[in-house]
Amino acid sequence: MGKLRNRLGRATLALVCALVSSAASTSVPDATPYEPPMPPVQRCMNLSSALEAPYEGDWGYTIRNEDIDRLKEAGFDTIRLPVRWSAHAGRWGRYKLNKGLLARTDAIIDYAMSRDMNVILNVHHYSELNNWPWRHERRLEGIWKQLAAHYEDYPDRLIFEIVNEPNGKMTVQRTDALNKRVVARIRKTQPDRWIVLATAEWGSIAGLLQSQPPSDPRIILSWHYYEPFVFTHQGAEFFRPTPPIGTNWGDTADVDRIAKDFRLAAAFRDKHNLPLLLGEFGVFDAAPVEQRAKWIGSVRHLAEANGFGWCHWGLSSNFRSYDADKEAWIEPVRAALLDD
Ligand code: GLC
Repeated sequence: MGKLRNRLGRATLALVCALVSSAASTSVPDATPYEPPMPPVQRCMNLSSALEAPYEGDWGYTIRNEDIDRLKEAGFDTIRLPVRWSAHAGRWGRYKLNKGLLARTDAIIDYAMSRDMNVILNVHHYSELNNWPWRHERRLEGIWKQLAAHYEDYPDRLIFEIVNEPNGKMTVQRTDALNKRVVARIRKTQPDRWIVLATAEWGSIAGLLQSQPPSDPRIILSWHYYEPFVFTHQGAEFFRPTPPIGTNWGDTADVDRIAKDFRLAAAFRDKHNLPLLLGEFGVFDAAPVEQRAKWIGSVRHLAEANGFGWCHWGLSSNFRSYDADKEAWIEPVRAALLDD
């Protein structure tokens, strides 16, 4: 009996040792598993023309879960979600955000995260801010106070972008100062949240190069690229005067111009030691599709060669890469974005 107990004791000890050593070799140490820091955005699509319209659907596109599936399967790691919060927030007091819109953004963000996609949530089309910043900066801060609280417990995959394409009275100095104030507010509760900072002058390279970003290791600088504008916006009637259709693009000098701009942007990025995101680029649908694909492919390759993550503008409605009527990718555009 004593021997048996002894043997059982030894067997138990051996089992425990085996379990401990196998646990050590598979390194499952304690309750908090190690998570490597999330890499910033690499390949991203703007889910444009949906929530930056006054109401989703007004501009002919409503976001569907299948679109997020399709993006994931095609090789995108991130969606950028432009939202016109300013049309759905109170005008005074705490500038209360509309609960229905918050529930809608929750649903899109939750679904994208269930597919392991990052989401960049922004404030888009806040034109009153650009016209009357002295009245609206406080309101933007109030909007972010609520968004930061609402999404406080969301994982790092959710990225905030404070405001899209500041312009007009939102000068470089005003934009830098506002960015700093909103970052400080978010940092009170979320020291590790990635925050994208757009720069003044419509997020152009000119605005980027004049900006003075805060020193914060979880900032992503952002700029937009639509040069030459007369090419990328040919036939875009929302812009007046509308650039005429028929401008061609694609000789060596055209490509060199983009390469030069990208070198300047990369040098700025290196000086500030912060990741740089090409948050928007695209060509309006009136240009021939081969021309669109040529420009998009060149910009995307130059972005990757310079180490910039990028977000194509856009998916459906206009500046399209996907044809929702045919339920099919616009193949030359898809290939320009994703193929080697
Ligand atoms: C900006 C505008 C958007 C426009 C795009 C291309 O993001 O906010 O409305 O479609 O640039 O011009």
